[in-house]
Amino acid sequence: MPVSISKRRPRTSKKTETEKPENSLENPRSCCNNICSIFSRSVLYRFPLTFLFLFLIYLWSTSTTVISGNVVHICISSRKLNELYCLTAGSQPALHVPVNNFTKPVSENVIRSEEEKSVVVLGKDGDKGFAKNETFSGERDSNKASFHVIDNGTSMGERVSVLAQDSKPINEENLDQHSEAKNDFDLDLHTDWDSETGEERYRYINPKDEDEETALKAVNKYLQIQRSWLSMGNNQENPGSCKGREIYVYDLPSKFNKDLLGECSDMVPWANFCSFFKNDALGESIDSLGKGMYRTHQYSLEPIFHSRVLKHPCRVYDENQAKLFYVPFYGGIDVLRWHFKNVSEDVKDVLAIEVVKWLGSKLSWKRNSGKDHVFVLGKISWDFRRKNKVSWGSSLLEMEEMKNPTKLLIERNPWEVNDVAIPHPTFFHPKTDDDISSWQNKIIVKPRRSLISFAGGARPGNPDSIRSTLIDQCRSSPDQCRFMNCTSGICDKPESVIELFQDSEFCLQPPGDSPTRKSIFDSLVSGCIPVIFDPYSAYYQYTWHLPEDHRAYSVYINKEDLKGKKVNVIEKLMSKTLREREDMRSYIVHELLPGLVYGDSNAKFERFRDACDITMDSLLHKISKTL
Ligand SMILES: *[C@@H]1O[C@H](CO)[C@@H](O)[C@H](O)[C@H]1NC(C)=O
Ligand SMILES: *[C@@H]1O[C@H](CO)[C@@H](O)[C@H](O)[C@H]1NC(C)=O
Ligand SMILES: *[C@@H]1O[C@H](CO)[C@@H](O)[C@H](O)[C@H]1NC(C)=O
Ligand SMILES: *[C@@H]1O[C@H](CO)[C@@H](O)[C@H](O)[C@H]1NC(C)=O
Ligand SMILES: *[C@@H]1O[C@H](CO)[C@@H](O)[C@H](O)[C@H]1NC(C)=O
Repeated sequence: MPVSISKRRPRTSKKTETEKPENSLENPRSCCNNICSIFSRSVLYRFPLTFLFLFLIYLWSTSTTVISGNVVHICISSRKLNELYCLTAGSQPALHVPVNNFTKPVSENVIRSEEEKSVVVLGKDGDKGFAKNETFSGERDSNKASFHVIDNGTSMGERVSVLAQDSKPINEENLDQHSEAKNDFDLDLHTDWDSETGEERYRYINPKDEDEETALKAVNKYLQIQRSWLSMGNNQENPGSCKGREIYVYDLPSKFNKDLLGECSDMVPWANFCSFFKNDALGESIDSLGKGMYRTHQYSLEPIFHSRVLKHPCRVYDENQAKLFYVPFYGGIDVLRWHFKNVSEDVKDVLAIEVVKWLGSKLSWKRNSGKDHVFVLGKISWDFRRKNKVSWGSSLLEMEEMKNPTKLLIERNPWEVNDVAIPHPTFFHPKTDDDISSWQNKIIVKPRRSLISFAGGARPGNPDSIRSTLIDQCRSSPDQCRFMNCTSGICDKPESVIELFQDSEFCLQPPGDSPTRKSIFDSLVSGCIPVIFDPYSAYYQYTWHLPEDHRAYSVYINKEDLKGKKVNVIEKLMSKTLREREDMRSYIVHELLPGLVYGDSNAKFERFRDACDITMDSLLHKISKTL
């Protein structure tokens, strides 16, 4: 039964809500209890070091999110369901991994529910180097090189703190202030089936049990809340006015940002990042691809966004006038420095703790407990959510103080309402409206010789990956599908990938090491319709930059259907009519594209809003609604 949930009208006729406000509060709480029985598993599989190194050299600094090798693979799931949400956080060469032990919290304020969490770490075939066998709580199915959840009584009833911890701010603060969104949540429970394609419109996964259902409801609830914050631009009465939209940018000590860029030659052991930080972190320009094209690194968002905000027309220099406070801490680049080095967990958190302390001393922070503050973190949320059993990443976002501010990330934690996902940076950085419209005109008329393309590598170590299936299907229809094997290193060159995408109608975008892919944005910016296999890749992420109805700009194919060989991707895409493709492409190029790219630091747009403008407008809207 189709139910529109995009409307945000309060439904005053709904008696239950007006009668029982406590009930509406209880709802999320019982939600929490159910969530408690969901647990997360974390799979850590390691390759021998030499292999790791080769692998890293191939894959690092490509346009995918891969940093593989020794890979931390985390799935949040309930006892029965598989892969409700999986990610592979990255590698930890030769590091001691305290699996079963609870490491000392970095500060008193680190999220508390550690002991309630059950992150199971599993190994993989050939996993000789696994550091601490004795702290290993999981069983390893080394013969089959597959992972299984430790499905034990001890795990049941334990909660994933990822899920549990956000119940508090959601219930007690945000939902109170967002009764409209809450009403929508009730409606969400209905599924909107698309009679034509059989696709689910707003829910992409059929929950296998109550736990998964609850978790998915929570995801949907937070998405609705975030969508209610989306701003369509300046207030109509007063276009261009900065009244009530004043932005203050903290002048942080340079160790929190600029100095980190200075460590570019020693950021990771196998690559020099210095060229990526040229041109205000856009990287070197790529003239052969056209004006405004740069060799931008996927983790460069922090300096790119910072440069834009410094020149925002509504920037003020008096913090007492400000509505929004921007904290230019390059937390992603900070943590990236340590990912591949053998340092203690304390070292990884030094700057994170210091920046929180630094802010804590400011009146402007105390005034609203950080709710009007924003951080841009150019990596995935999990890189900042180190929990006890996995030593990957920092604990920045596990700190109590970090719950209130908005965190803009290239991949959000779907159970954190203040985690807002914003597009991965692409190679295109326009300066003017004309740069955007010339790009649009160029992209829309490109002859596209391939129906389908896939640029990626197989994940032979991950049996859950659908990539091999996709590669097989692609290669068995060479007339329709082109496969670019990223394992060979060719995808390191933006030119090859962008040229392929500009020459294709559909671009397959299976999850990589984490659900989101920079490649989805490369594909959209190239006018290639993305084919999405996991709602966490995009639909559950970019609430401010992608519309709720995914059919306007993408094709969804359930990865379970693909695994079960119920669907052939090539056939499914061949069945799309020319008209359908043209409608989608036109929408992508004309409606979405300007809002998916980050202008350069001097950019000024009048007709368009770029990703940065949309984000800042929506942040201001969020603050005006929630404070
Ligand atoms: C990592 O550092 C610890 C402490 O300094 C040391 O004991 C350990 O051997 C180191 N591991 C590697 C692989 O270098
Ligand atoms: C965990 O580590 C701490 C400190 O290293 C130690 O005191 C404690 O006994 C360990 N616990 C377990 C269960 O190994
Ligand atoms: C792993 O632990 C088991 C049980 O504690 C022990 O028997 C085995 O020898 C250990 N293996 C290694 C490689 O340390
Ligand atoms: C699973 O639970 C059973 C009974 O509760 C216990 O005997 C067993 O050791 C547990 N296994 C693991 C791997 O924790
Ligand atoms: C991709 O390239 C790698 C290395 O060049 C090769 O080992 C692998 O077999 C290739 N994969 C496919 C599916 O062709």
